[in-house]
Amino acid sequence: MVRQREVIAELPAYKQGAAPSSADVFKLSSNENPFPPLPSVVASVVEALSTIHLYPAMSAPTISQRVAEKFGVDVDNVAFGAGSVEVAAQLIQASAGSGDEVIFAWRSFEAYPILVTVAGATPIAVPLTADDAHDLDAMADAITPRTRLIFVCNPNNPTGTGVTRAELERFLERVPADVLVVIDEAYVHFNRDENTAEGIDFFRRYPNIAVLHTFSKAYGLAGLRLGYAIAQPAVAANLRRVAVPFAVTDLAQRAAVASLDAEAELGERIDQIVAERGRVSAELAAGGWKHSDSLANFVWLRTGAQTDDVNAALTEHGVLARAWSNEGIRVSIGSTEANDRFLAAMATLQPTP
Ligand SMILES: Cc1ncc(COP(=O)(O)O)c(C=O)c1O
Repeated sequence: MVRQREVIAELPAYKQGAAPSSADVFKLSSNENPFPPLPSVVASVVEALSTIHLYPAMSAPTISQRVAEKFGVDVDNVAFGAGSVEVAAQLIQASAGSGDEVIFAWRSFEAYPILVTVAGATPIAVPLTADDAHDLDAMADAITPRTRLIFVCNPNNPTGTGVTRAELERFLERVPADVLVVIDEAYVHFNRDENTAEGIDFFRRYPNIAVLHTFSKAYGLAGLRLGYAIAQPAVAANLRRVAVPFAVTDLAQRAAVASLDAEAELGERIDQIVAERGRVSAELAAGGWKHSDSLANFVWLRTGAQTDDVNAALTEHGVLARAWSNEGIRVSIGSTEANDRFLAAMATLQPTP
């Protein structure tokens, strides 16, 4: 028997949202964009197909330039990966090794504890508040001399809650200057809270902030895998050092450039998703369902002990959601038809007091 790291065999595998079994089943379990790719984005990928016998440019020059221009930063500040989950792994690997600690809220993005453990570091999961928000005081209390990295997921997956500017400022007063704070903004485009802590704004003001963005959600490129960090040049350079060589394809780079060219069109789609989120939330509230006021492209139902029953009813109605027994259910905002189906399923149930 070959010897493997014991800690790996004990890891829970990352759980992907279930695949629909028929065309009449709606997959609302992975926070995907319900709109198909724009024709201009498809055209950019088709054009790139003729060169897939070649390796992609590892420095991703065009998309790096475009992202740098968009945020008014230098290309040296930008580092890419195959999805922001790969960039999160790079951030951890560049910051924390054996004996080091990485703090994050819990429940939050499922990959955090897995990636930290794989890197050989120690995950420190700090429970959310009773309102399913980051408990930043408790997270600050959890900082030790071993802390090397802290994730702040804003808005938080799966609860949809946000961190305000004032809350993050207060928190950062307690974070040592040599600890990197990563603001994971996978869902930032859906966040309409004017008091929210904007990652790029904090990056400009604090030297120990990195911002994590993705093309998967608002830009609808989940299947092509592209994410990036904006960080100090020394940090970004280390991310490039630990990156898996050639993981970011030319197709992904070109599709991302085409998406930045189509921001206005994509913005209209984001507005529609946000409007649908408002409609879904209002109907859930009218039905007496406890849920957080989500700032992302999903809603979080606080179903507690009722979770398995509600999830079974959703499945029966052809709606696949992401459920955590005895905690709650995350349901992505989908097409109008999918959202209607979700609401119709909920209307057949009664929330327990
Ligand atoms: C909070 C958060 N960060 C990062 C990611 C990673 O997304 P991707 O790797 O597709 O960019 C996700 C995906 O669900 C997420 O929810």
